[in-house]
Amino acid sequence: MTGAFPSEIHIPDKVLSGKNGVLEFPGKAASFGSRGVIVHGASVEKNGLKSSLVPLLKKAGVETAWFCRGKAHPHALQEASVQEIRDVIALGKNTNARWIAGIGGGSVLDLAKAAAGLYHAHEDPVYYQEGGKLTEKGIPFLAVPTTAGSGSEATLNAVIINPGKKVKLSIRHPAFLAAGVILDPELLKTVPESVMAHSGMDALVQAYESYTSKNATLFTETLALRAIEMIGASLIPAAKPAPTDIQPTRLDIGERDKALHDMLFASFLAGLAFSHSRLGVIHGIAHSLGVLYGVPHGLVCAACFIPSIKMNREAMGEKYARMSRALGGDLTEKITTLQTALGITSPFKGKPVIEKEKIIAETLRSGSTAANPKPVEREDVEFLLGELF
Ligand SMILES: [Fe+2]
Repeated sequence: MTGAFPSEIHIPDKVLSGKNGVLEFPGKAASFGSRGVIVHGASVEKNGLKSSLVPLLKKAGVETAWFCRGKAHPHALQEASVQEIRDVIALGKNTNARWIAGIGGGSVLDLAKAAAGLYHAHEDPVYYQEGGKLTEKGIPFLAVPTTAGSGSEATLNAVIINPGKKVKLSIRHPAFLAAGVILDPELLKTVPESVMAHSGMDALVQAYESYTSKNATLFTETLALRAIEMIGASLIPAAKPAPTDIQPTRLDIGERDKALHDMLFASFLAGLAFSHSRLGVIHGIAHSLGVLYGVPHGLVCAACFIPSIKMNREAMGEKYARMSRALGGDLTEKITTLQTALGITSPFKGKPVIEKEKIIAETLRSGSTAANPKPVEREDVEFLLGELF
């Protein structure tokens, strides 16, 4: 029987939402201390957000050191690396930072989150990535997502790459929870179509895996099912404002704003849901495939979606029909239509499977795989690989 609530609930206690909410960031940040580090992606410089925030931060009496992922590490991987965590912590200590904020997509938020959480840690980040226990308290982490997908602003974990060992593993700790979150849908307006499509599919897969997770509770199911419904209705209009076959007329401004708003809020709900239920085999295999083939995380998740539904069809029972109702049609057909409309195809088809044994071993070891509704054996991973390649 599904329990009503997880044994512990972790929700950021300061969540500010609404149009242009990002302009409130300097005042909110000042309440955590007059010096901080802002980790961000290159888009924050290109779209003018940084130049709008600089005078407001000054006015609020906040001194900030800016860390641009792309600039500091031109060959930065999609996910944050252990070296970047060390670099952000060093920048914070050199500038006497009292908080660390992330303004960007999932990897930017994960980097800021891990650096804030490990700020006073005695060991190197690799130690915690490999399961070491964190006992020191970090400094506040503030999250301003600029994409709708990872849900990192709502979760307790940061996905980190150790390029030397070619592994991608989460560091997870209750103290990693954001102290403050700003959800501003205006920030999604400059997100490129492919990023919106891939990160939106990540959010949808996260909601699906949370909803069907072995650890699901009434609490997580409610959040996840609502996220599925909202993403199903808003991902195409959010990613494709121009006319398409499915949506023949250009969206008016109000419709587009609503789609972006719903995507941002739904990915937050999905993040809250999976943070309390864990995920499933898609996220179990996605880390290995993403690292080995250099494919964006959201695209790997999208490619694994239908194979996972086939694999879990029986184990998920009546949840299949409930997700279908939330999407307004048969789950498999709806996901297929959505992916076709977004131009998503498997990046693996026709390619050879490299390092098969490593993929299988890592998938079977994953905490996400452990939450999959059908217990996952070696032959299940082989089934997924057979469908993907
Ligand atoms: Fe994900």
